Amino acid sequence: MNAPKRLTEVVIRGVPAAARGTWDRRWFVKALAVGGLYYTQRGLFAEVLTLTPAQTQGPYYPDRLPLDQDNDLLIINDNITPAVGTVAFISGRVLDRTGTPIRGALVEIWQADHRGNYIHSQGLVAGGVRDPNFQGYGRFLTASSGEYLFRTIKPGLYPGRIRHVHFKITLPGGRTLTTQLYIEGETGNDGVLNAVPVAQRPAVVRPWVPIPGSAVGALAVTFDIVMDYTPADGPTPSRPTIVSFAGIVNAATYSPGAAPGSWITIFGDSLAPQARTWREEDFAGDSLPTELDGVAVTIEDRPAALYYVSPKQLNALVPSDVAEGPARLVVRNGSGISEPAGVEIKRLSPGFFTFPREYVAAVRSDGALLGPPDLIPGVATVPARPGDAILLFGTGFGPTSPEPPAGRRFQGAYPLAGPVQLRLDTYEVPLAFAGLVGPGLYQFNLTVPDLPDGDYSVTAQVQGVRTEKIALLRVERRNFAGRKRDPDASPVFFSRRFYRRLLRMVDRDMG
Ligand SMILES: [Fe+2]
Repeated sequence: MNAPKRLTEVVIRGVPAAARGTWDRRWFVKALAVGGLYYTQRGLFAEVLTLTPAQTQGPYYPDRLPLDQDNDLLIINDNITPAVGTVAFISGRVLDRTGTPIRGALVEIWQADHRGNYIHSQGLVAGGVRDPNFQGYGRFLTASSGEYLFRTIKPGLYPGRIRHVHFKITLPGGRTLTTQLYIEGETGNDGVLNAVPVAQRPAVVRPWVPIPGSAVGALAVTFDIVMDYTPADGPTPSRPTIVSFAGIVNAATYSPGAAPGSWITIFGDSLAPQARTWREEDFAGDSLPTELDGVAVTIEDRPAALYYVSPKQLNALVPSDVAEGPARLVVRNGSGISEPAGVEIKRLSPGFFTFPREYVAAVRSDGALLGPPDLIPGVATVPARPGDAILLFGTGFGPTSPEPPAGRRFQGAYPLAGPVQLRLDTYEVPLAFAGLVGPGLYQFNLTVPDLPDGDYSVTAQVQGVRTEKIALLRVERRNFAGRKRDPDASPVFFSRRFYRRLLRMVDRDMG
């Protein structure tokens, strides 16, 4: 690996200096979009939406859940053979009747493989052989944007039904909706769909649209799910309380659980008196703050560094010496001490930070933010081009060699101890650097290979563990003049200030 090249300062274009310190629920958008218009107008134009109709669960909800339950049904774990079928991206938002996104909604899908077989033990409905490479089931926990994403295939046909994907959504508090998604333009008499009132059918019969330029002919479908939901607005507890379902999650992927040395997000009530991130004065020398505004978090009685505190959310760094297995997390503040919450400490919990719509948080080596041009209103994002040197960011990727000083901020870069493979779809992409660039913050440097236009799923595998969710990278060859490779593809590292901004930028739930 080449010697790291350090850029003294790279400024994300358009970030007003004055915006620093005014983080809101979506700092990134708030700070960069036109006065936060995009996210605040929702309330102004609130209208009552039609509820998504409930439909039968059917007999094939998995009777034994697969080991791999991520949002990529196309690839099982680190298999490199994808499922057979037409690739389809299913995305949308979970909303309440006023159109407000619901955080912490668990979206489960299950569906037939290309031949019509389910992974259920009675699910060989087409009488044939199940596609061994099709996951058949996936789950996704929403962030405050309410967004979800799955990569799957267009479901196969089986007798008696038209093509469909089963959905089950479980909201915080336990309310559930079971429903099904169909393909616009498909004909056939379907008893389940017929039972949906005609006026509600457009909500579940959606267009599956070819993605322009997709080399594999992938389809995209959007399916917003509207549910009857009122957040429990009971009296706010006086002492800190941790949300019981998925209250402690990986800060990048929102998967429940935590890994040593990774960033986690804790959801609850009365967690902190006010919202703020750590500031320079919170550091004692280079020691990371373990108390902000009187708020402290311990995991198995070890203090966790705190990056962000607010009444409903904390961001904490899991101490690197916490042992694997069930652990107890406690929040303490000026009003009291929480009940201990259980959290599973995993050896690794790898995942990439993302921008909206599950696009991976990617930065070109010159500081340009990468994504489809319309990703964030008012913010310049550009697709990645073949040959671009780009950087991705994540947490939970495990030990480095050497290890940085525990519980302290540091300069420099610490490469991962074990091998890591990064893939764009099934293409393995060499990494010029993979390792820690800040406490709990992992960076991956790569050169975009010469790929056809399209959205690619970004995954990585570290010590046999695959990233917990797929994220997307938009690649476009426009302006690509046959450049083979960035002339200077040696690792690029940004300033500490850049990384601080980046962490704020990708935390979609602050506030
Ligand atoms: Fe079915």
